[in-house]
Amino acid sequence: MLSKKMEKAFNDQIKWEYYSAYLYLSLSSYFSNAGLSGFANWMDVQFQEEQFHARKMFDYVNEKGGRVVLQGIEAPPSTWKTPLAAFDYALRHEFAVTKRINDLMTLAQKENDHASAIFLQWFVSEQVEEEASFGDTVNKLKMVGDGGGMFMLDRELATRVFTPPVA
Ligand code: FEO
Repeated sequence: MLSKKMEKAFNDQIKWEYYSAYLYLSLSSYFSNAGLSGFANWMDVQFQEEQFHARKMFDYVNEKGGRVVLQGIEAPPSTWKTPLAAFDYALRHEFAVTKRINDLMTLAQKENDHASAIFLQWFVSEQVEEEASFGDTVNKLKMVGDGGGMFMLDRELATRVFTPPVA
């Protein structure tokens, strides 16, 4: 059984995970259009990761006897000035997601909902990885500037494949 407060908070977060997916698909389109197919691939994999996050939460709410009601998803931004600005935007988005997950965890603790707190621990750890992987590419982009370095980085990002995270 989920409290009404937890149910609403999970529903809001499911929307945010799908918004994240939508944002990364938009970034994939931006990079594809800029001729950076490796960057586009990386964002496409992230699009799939976010759908996994949303679905994991969706399944949990159902398992706990709650009701998922899907919400509308706003249009994400579609253009950025540079690849660095685009990745930096994504990194800052992940910081905001981390704050939302932390707030969800705080709510679970206040509600004395131990099952949800244990469930949310997975997301707390996942956010550490998310921030690290986005931050790593932001740092590399700051180092390479334009030119040959970008070509190498694009080739590196082309190798990312989606593997469903261990639940
Ligand atoms: Fe689902 Fe990138 O956090």
